[in-house]
Amino acid sequence: MSFLELARKRYSVRKYEDRKVEAEKLAQILEAGRVAPTGHNAQPFRLIVVREPEGLAKLKKGANVYGAPLAVIVCGHREEAWVRPYDGKNIRDIDASIVTDHMMLQATELGLGTVWICYFDPVAVKREFRIPDSLEPVNILAVGYAAGEPASPERHGQTRRPLQEIVIDETF
Ligand SMILES: Cc1cc2nc3c(=O)[nH]c(=O)nc-3n(C[C@H](O)[C@H](O)[C@H](O)COP(=O)(O)O)c2cc1C
Repeated sequence: MSFLELARKRYSVRKYEDRKVEAEKLAQILEAGRVAPTGHNAQPFRLIVVREPEGLAKLKKGANVYGAPLAVIVCGHREEAWVRPYDGKNIRDIDASIVTDHMMLQATELGLGTVWICYFDPVAVKREFRIPDSLEPVNILAVGYAAGEPASPERHGQTRRPLQEIVIDETF
């Protein structure tokens, strides 16, 4: 499968089978996150792997992971992240999101479903997982075997803006 075929195939899965993700597949997903590029190669992130019932119950207090058997809480480290000198922009969230995207696409390639979650209560998540103040939960990636009908890879014709609307040729 080409990269574009994989990217088109991926969709947000909000219903999962009651089936665990194999340890080897989880290892590959985490490795894909590890090798992701980050600004200045600062690697300002930590990954909390949640797959035990106790952890999933804790996660439920702050986030809806749609019954996925595995979730990775992608935390960003503000002090470790590169800061752009011109305007002081801290790129922690960008780095954390590239890591999340790498893991999401790796999971897709392994035949797993995912959904990227930002709609969560960061205070509850920090409290439940004893996340230190130096770290901020940025994204949660829910992973598991998709249940139900998959979304069509052809859907982007209707669900995405056309290129003419998003690409600016040379200058505005
Ligand atoms: C940064 C980001 C945050 C998202 N947060 C949530 C979320 O909190 N809950 C949710 O159900 N989906 C969330 N999504 C999934 C998007 O709604 C979804 O990717 C988008 O509607 C396109 O649909 P598709 O993924 O099926 O192609 C998020 C996606 C991204 C990239």
